[in-house]
Amino acid sequence: MAFIEMKNVSKSFKGMIIFEDINLSIDKGKIYGIIGHNGSGKSVLFKILCGFSAPNKGEVQIDGKILGRDITFPDNFGVIIDRPGYISNKTGLENLRSLALIQNKISDNDIATTMSLVGLQPNAEQKVKDYSLGMKQKLAIAQAIMENQQVLVLDEPFNALDNDSVQHIRELLLQFKKEGRTIILTSHNQDDINLLCDKVYRINNYNLEEV
Ligand SMILES: Nc1ncnc2c1ncn2[C@@H]1O[C@H](COP(=O)(O)OP(=O)(O)O)[C@@H](O)[C@H]1O
Ligand SMILES: [Mg+2]
Repeated sequence: MAFIEMKNVSKSFKGMIIFEDINLSIDKGKIYGIIGHNGSGKSVLFKILCGFSAPNKGEVQIDGKILGRDITFPDNFGVIIDRPGYISNKTGLENLRSLALIQNKISDNDIATTMSLVGLQPNAEQKVKDYSLGMKQKLAIAQAIMENQQVLVLDEPFNALDNDSVQHIRELLLQFKKEGRTIILTSHNQDDINLLCDKVYRINNYNLEEV
């Protein structure tokens, strides 16, 4: 059995069908790309994978455990879905610190190291309300990776990043893959998909087809 399995998952909102009987197998240590036009269901798929949204039918298994029955949320997932909410009048470090307190696994030092890794200055006094879109995106990436999460579910991680930053984050993700971490991502940029992904699925006709 694969590490993560979606089995016969159907999802609709008030009669609007998003997915009909989809199956997806995710193995450890690979990068998966999910593509599809706006509104095709990429973010909904990610929410189902992370236990934020329940399927109408079917199930998601993570390491043999059924989401919503054996576990409420998967363990050790780093997630970016849609635009994350931040406390705007706090600094980036303060925001990450309050998120880190939930698990209490990492120190300020660890947070600072991750911020530097994604190209943010940990000691800057700047409040998040004064961050550019790209900086907020880097903060979202930092949040998703700072606890050394072994599965990264990244919905449009490259949005709003400048070219150098895109290049840098791509390299970072490839490094994570080498370390055996598992990554599932979406991108509207075909180069991101081609360069990074071992397997690509397109959402089409309420289904996932391998590209
Ligand atoms: N909580 C919700 N309630 C109702 N409709 C939703 C909800 N979340 C998403 N949708 C709808 O599901 C469809 C897929 O959305 P989404 O997954 O965000 O698309 P995308 O592929 O652009 O990420 C859209 O039509 C969206 O309006
Ligand atoms: Mg989306």
